[in-house]
Amino acid sequence: MPSLFDPIQLGAIAAPNRILMAPLTRGRATREHVPTAVMAEYYAQRASAGLIISEATGISHQGLGWPFAPGLWSDEQTSAWKPVTQAVHDAGGRIVAQLWHMGRQVHSSVTGEQPVSSSATATAGKAHTYEGRQPFETARALGLDEIPGLLDSYARATENALAAGFDGVQIHAANGYLIDQFLRDNANFRSDAYGGSVENRTRLLREVATRVASVAGADRTSVRLSPNGDSQGVDDSDPVHLFVPAAKLLSDIGIGFLELREPGPDGTFGRTDVPRLSPEIRQAFTGPLVLNSDYLTVAAAQERIDAGVADAISFGRSFLANPDLPARLAAGAALNEGNMATWYSQGPEGYVDYPALETAAA
Ligand SMILES: Cc1cc2nc3c(=O)[nH]c(=O)nc-3n(C[C@H](O)[C@H](O)[C@H](O)COP(=O)(O)O)c2cc1C
Repeated sequence: MPSLFDPIQLGAIAAPNRILMAPLTRGRATREHVPTAVMAEYYAQRASAGLIISEATGISHQGLGWPFAPGLWSDEQTSAWKPVTQAVHDAGGRIVAQLWHMGRQVHSSVTGEQPVSSSATATAGKAHTYEGRQPFETARALGLDEIPGLLDSYARATENALAAGFDGVQIHAANGYLIDQFLRDNANFRSDAYGGSVENRTRLLREVATRVASVAGADRTSVRLSPNGDSQGVDDSDPVHLFVPAAKLLSDIGIGFLELREPGPDGTFGRTDVPRLSPEIRQAFTGPLVLNSDYLTVAAAQERIDAGVADAISFGRSFLANPDLPARLAAGAALNEGNMATWYSQGPEGYVDYPALETAAA
């Protein structure tokens, strides 16, 4: 079995190791969702990842409700991403853009319009807004006549990502956002071609993946799913019979890799008693499979590769706090502790000031 430190081909992307950086929203863009210079420094520091998956990045104003998160729908945003991807490439790295539509998890005070979703539902709890946390609002169901425009938004964001120098894109279909809201039967109550049967509920995922792949190439397209996740109240009565076919359809499209966020019962960032579906998904998806959540040691990550379930592992919070994570894992060095208070704060603190090993030693 390969080691975590061996190279892997992820579609068209040659990754020098199997330690990927998981997507991490950090809120360092402008209020207009334009990337900033400090983001280039942050990502370049983490260029030793086999592959960086960027923070979730809005495909449209309608789909982006997170304060100070970046977008990829305007020329200004696209231009501002160029120095970021350039800095990563100059540092020897690779980076794909995670494409995001939050669906009902946006707040109208950020987007300027009522949230949209598969059906007229609301997420429990509170949304992040510029005025602090506010209760989620009830979405309106997307009209059938709006789906072509949604697919156009994914296509345009993909074109912009490539123009900005990204090595590919990842479709965010996890964590209870718009595509997940179409997938699951406790959020999708539609009676048209996008609701009801598994084939219908996976239709939007298939159409988005097909469209994005037509722009980027399937081998530069990847997808993130959270099959067993407690995804902000978005759940399914039968995850196995939903997500195994979903993985199969993505396999048939030929995407470059599939990433699963699958917390366990002892998860420290979301936890669930729903069993992990990666063993079943492994049978249905023939490309590289990347697993995520709570892999805190090399041994734990390597065990999944040795068991034949994963080809690579993505690391979130440990990459956030350790810019040189692969070197630290290889050396068996101690890891920096992250500071939650600066996860989404603006500015450089807790963002570009985590020391690398040499700095720490000096
Ligand atoms: C600060 C923070 C921001 C995150 N932002 C995103 C995101 O933009 N997109 C996404 O798919 N997941 C996001 N996640 C989830 C992570 O990608 C990952 O699934 C989670 O941290 C568990 O992995 P870990 O145990 O390696 O940290 C975020 C997590 C954290 C802690």
